[in-house]
Amino acid sequence: MKVFVAGGAGYIGSVCTEYLLDKGYDVTVFDGLITGHRQAVDPRAKFIYGNLEDRDFLFKCLCEGRYDAVMHFAAFSLVGESMKDPGKYFKNNLGNAINLADAAVKGGVKRFVFSSTAATFGIPEEMPIRETTAQKPINPYGESKLCFEKALRWYSDIHGLKYAALRYFNAAGASENYGEDHNPESHLIPILLQVAAGKRAKAMLFGDDYDTPDGTCIRDYIHVLDLAQAHEKALYAPESGHYNLGTGAGLSVKQILEAARKVTGHPIPADVVPRRPGDPPRLIACSDKARRELGWKPQYEDAETIIASVWKWMQKHPDGYEF
Ligand code: UFG
Repeated sequence: MKVFVAGGAGYIGSVCTEYLLDKGYDVTVFDGLITGHRQAVDPRAKFIYGNLEDRDFLFKCLCEGRYDAVMHFAAFSLVGESMKDPGKYFKNNLGNAINLADAAVKGGVKRFVFSSTAATFGIPEEMPIRETTAQKPINPYGESKLCFEKALRWYSDIHGLKYAALRYFNAAGASENYGEDHNPESHLIPILLQVAAGKRAKAMLFGDDYDTPDGTCIRDYIHVLDLAQAHEKALYAPESGHYNLGTGAGLSVKQILEAARKVTGHPIPADVVPRRPGDPPRLIACSDKARRELGWKPQYEDAETIIASVWKWMQKHPDGYEF
């Protein structure tokens, strides 16, 4: 099967590319290296340097390549930035995604796998969060992803482009070769490990006055290799649909801090600071649908295993991809 991976030089896209190549797929990565890294592209993949804004070039690539499937990872994903510059998010995460969907249809592609997010739910009305839970995003990032989820439904109905929208909860972890290298880094686990590695003096815990057992926010951390597994399984989904991807276990910021201390053997000093605006107190996935319909089964369910994989990757890449 030939797969076109938009955003294959980014964190989740690079790990999925490696996973697909290991399974024998023919993979082409398309990336404009805006937030991605050339070194993160598995050398076994074909690489096309390009921007999703460039509709003509995209159409040319998709028409010439005769791909069976498109995976779409190329998006902006900083919630805070989206609150300052919504246009940037709608332009890329919706407008450019439409370019890709149009090109996929033009190129005769039959399957489309889209990286969606728990942020489409906003502050959820039920926990755990099911596919049927009301989606009411509280930031332009989540809204832009939801808009494209909705658009895909019409591409499926009208053009027969079968899609899977995979709503990641908190993607974490690394494979042997590929990991998370954001600049600036905003995610909890890499920040804690940067403290352990001596790159930051201390961590900040954003609020300990939430209505949760230890007062800090609860998230569902899902290993990036488990997300990769879900992408592969989604290529064979019987129908178009949406899937929530998490382990179903909620861990608090303080629990993650303790796990990071255990894995690294470092005290990781951390100060409690005020809440970060826009953080929902609790996000936990119900992934029964993905397990049932895709046959997906997460393999890395405990925090220490996930954190240890990041720690190992950071030892090998102390300066990220700038080695
Ligand atoms: N946190 C801290 N200190 C930090 C960084 C984070 O206490 O230095 C806390 C946050 O407040 C939050 C938790 O750690 O409670 C996890 O924060 P992350 O930034 O790692 O992840 P988010 O839950 O904010 O974001 C993730 C994805 C987003 C997605 C969102 C859905 O990275 O793309 O889930 O809500 F939009």
